[in-house]
Amino acid sequence: MISILKVNNISSGYGEILAIRGINIHVENEQIVGLIGPNGAGKTTLLKTIIGFIQPTEGTIMFDGKEIQSQRVERIVSSGMALVPEGREILATLTVQENLELGAYCRKDKGIKDDLTKIYDYFPILKERRNFAANTLSGGQQQMLSIGRALMSRPKLLLLDEPSMGLAPIIVDRVFEILKDIQKEEKISMLIVEQNTKKILELSEYSYVLRNGEIIKEGPSNELIGDPQLVEAYL
Ligand SMILES: Nc1ncnc2c1ncn2[C@@H]1O[C@H](COP(=O)(O)OP(=O)(O)OP(=O)(O)O)[C@@H](O)[C@H]1O
Ligand SMILES: [Mg+2]
Repeated sequence: MISILKVNNISSGYGEILAIRGINIHVENEQIVGLIGPNGAGKTTLLKTIIGFIQPTEGTIMFDGKEIQSQRVERIVSSGMALVPEGREILATLTVQENLELGAYCRKDKGIKDDLTKIYDYFPILKERRNFAANTLSGGQQQMLSIGRALMSRPKLLLLDEPSMGLAPIIVDRVFEILKDIQKEEKISMLIVEQNTKKILELSEYSYVLRNGEIIKEGPSNELIGDPQLVEAYL
């Protein structure tokens, strides 16, 4: 199998403090991979390091066959990676459509309009609300907007940081269903950080557990669901 992402022995952090140490993870082509762990484990730090917001102090990151650990975030996004950040980070006073168009800022091709149509097909509510300011949307709709904006860069690999945060269970189910559809239809790979352990183990094929900056467990998600230690700690 081809790995779209290979993180090899990555350590990274803030100034002198290493928030993650010796991390190894793989995402295979067209696979959904879960990353779970408690608050402060280093999940966000790992995603920010992969996409190039933070430079690792050691290790290598291979994306789509190329080493990227010393590249800048703009270049990594242009080469096909996108992040749906923790807290969504939509631009509140811009319209829904303006937010989506911003997601295509790295692109120069002519397919942007078609992709907008496609995103409105996945998220009809965004089409309905396209001329409204983003801050008029509900939490679930804002999460959909954040996902849609990331898709506008046409990623091969989508990183998602706690997409279920703050959403009602029924909305979480809807967002996860749409993510599954998108993965199948667009054939993209996803690395999803979640504290909703049960949901991510059901959605993903393979998962990693991060604690205190280190991977303490990994395996096929359907096996981890039955792991008594994990169930006790997180479910
Ligand atoms: N900007 C920063 N400067 C210094 N330390 C930071 C910074 N951001 C995070 N940290 C520290 O790095 C460690 C890992 O934080 P990180 O945000 O990656 O964890 P997380 O697993 O995403 O947690 P959460 O579930 O709360 O989002 C924590 O000890 C945190 O306090
Ligand atoms: Mg986080």
